[in-house]
Amino acid sequence: MAGKANGAAGQASVKGRAYPIVDHTYDVVVVGAGGAGLRATLGCAEAGLKTACVTKVFPTRSHTVAAQGGIAASLANMGPDNWRWHMYDTVKGSDWLGDQDAIEYLCRNAPEAVYELDHYGVPFSRTEEGKIYQRPFGGHYTEYGDGPPVQRTCAAADRTGHAMLHTLYGQSLRHSAEFFIEYFALDLIMDDEGACRGVIAMNMEDGSIHRFRSKRTILATGGYGRAYFSATSAHTCTGDGNAMVLRAGLPLQDMEFVQFHPTGIYGAGVLITEGARGEGGYLTNSKGERFMERYAPHAKDLASRDVVSRSMTIEILEGRGVGPDGDHIYLHLDHLDPKILAERLPGITESAKIFAGVDLRRQPIPVIPTVHYNMGGIPTNYHGEVLTLKGGNPDTVVPGLMAIGEAACVSVHGANRLGSNSLIDLVVFGRAAALKCADTVERRAAQPELPREATDKALDRLDRYRNANGSTPTAALRLKMQKTMQINCAVFRDGPVLDEGVAKIAEVWKGVDDIRVTDRSLVWNSDLIETLEFDNLISQAAVTVGGAANRKESRGAHAREDYPKRDDVQWMKHTLAFADTATRQVRLDSRPVHTRTLTNEIKYIEPKARVY
Ligand code: FUM
Repeated sequence: MAGKANGAAGQASVKGRAYPIVDHTYDVVVVGAGGAGLRATLGCAEAGLKTACVTKVFPTRSHTVAAQGGIAASLANMGPDNWRWHMYDTVKGSDWLGDQDAIEYLCRNAPEAVYELDHYGVPFSRTEEGKIYQRPFGGHYTEYGDGPPVQRTCAAADRTGHAMLHTLYGQSLRHSAEFFIEYFALDLIMDDEGACRGVIAMNMEDGSIHRFRSKRTILATGGYGRAYFSATSAHTCTGDGNAMVLRAGLPLQDMEFVQFHPTGIYGAGVLITEGARGEGGYLTNSKGERFMERYAPHAKDLASRDVVSRSMTIEILEGRGVGPDGDHIYLHLDHLDPKILAERLPGITESAKIFAGVDLRRQPIPVIPTVHYNMGGIPTNYHGEVLTLKGGNPDTVVPGLMAIGEAACVSVHGANRLGSNSLIDLVVFGRAAALKCADTVERRAAQPELPREATDKALDRLDRYRNANGSTPTAALRLKMQKTMQINCAVFRDGPVLDEGVAKIAEVWKGVDDIRVTDRSLVWNSDLIETLEFDNLISQAAVTVGGAANRKESRGAHAREDYPKRDDVQWMKHTLAFADTATRQVRLDSRPVHTRTLTNEIKYIEPKARVY
């Protein structure tokens, strides 16, 4: 159901320019309509809460639609498995930076969350007996890492995200959630006590300003892959929620951990699913060697993503890359039965043809590690409640504010996420947030007036960019930021390169004072929206490279050549990054990793060397 105004229409004026304002009141407002946002929207609406979902793209175009290989859950449809093995693999995959209470919650609840999707109508691929088909993915094993690989990743061919998103949108509509589609969220509405009271957004179709007053605001705004030059992420992945949190003076967590997916198509950045290697694909260098056997003798091509991406990078740097410039690697699927390719990997068969011009039944696909996922984000507990550092307590709940999905850092992925643990994170924590709202929100109770200041601040920012009259186009600054992140905050990092990155990003950020927007209208002003998105990206780039320069160890996706070892004594802690967006200063603090489990049904998994 499309959302309608349910409050008084008004008007605000900034420097004499009028902005029409429409007010809305809901129990819960979800920002973002990807897998996590839709699962939370559906859950809240189903619980009888008056729920709105505000989204900048049509729900079924959210980036979850691009998720290919599948969703992890220990269903044991293809052989023995259980949630404890899944938990062990996830803790190990996180390089012991994940919070073990949250990881237990994720892995215990995963099977139920997948069966729920099945019952909602997700068209999973099937085994001969009609069970949900599951494929192997990197880093997923039996017997607490000691046994053979497990087939844990539930798949709908190689279009799992697409299937989930369409099903969840249909279910949300069935439960009468209201959608505000192509509305761009501008800022959170915070009160003097530090509670979130809603969100302010712009309808991109006509430029009208909408204030959503709500008892809970759930940010499900995804990652910020577009801070980099080459990413599998959609152009819409600009981390708008993360940036709103920074502007509210709240911290982001573990932003230095950026995942490079081993198999982005060379040049285009388009994803080739890890499921390709799960179905038997393998990587080779210019000598035709299956080099992963040297780096991960046990797991080989199905080691975790950080390990495979680093191995590929070493092969290229040591002169064994393929292609005229020796700057990429080949992924082979040409030995597989064409029937398997047609049934289980139809999407990437098409992508390889369109974006690399290869027929993968006969030719290898040129691939390169490509930015894919942000482990860092808005710190939350496993109910989805946002946390901040207050009076020395780093687990202080921010009243009224929740975050889920890639925008959040629960933290279940720690320093490195296992493939297929993202889709399960979306639905388990989308559902958890809805359960928390159902338990704690008083349905349709009156809400106090909104504080005035938040609206003024958001409109001032909007108006400033709309009328920005400098000499640097947004696209030029964005490109500088993306290239700097790609070079200075890459798969391998070291002190001088990171320090240079910090300085260059600070310079790009300063460049915002000279930004130029040419379109002054309020109707489909993509120049303005891209500028607001760039402003969101640059603060996240600053805390990412700042956090990376600060963390003097190697852990998961953060591989420092000058500090090649993991250092649990000094660094087994989460980074908390604050950004003063007025002075453009980053401040770093920390928060202990939760070493407790959720129940006594599993013991704390002690840190050890991470080998595959
Ligand atoms: O490779 C893939 O299909 C991606 C999955 C994921 O990031 O979880």
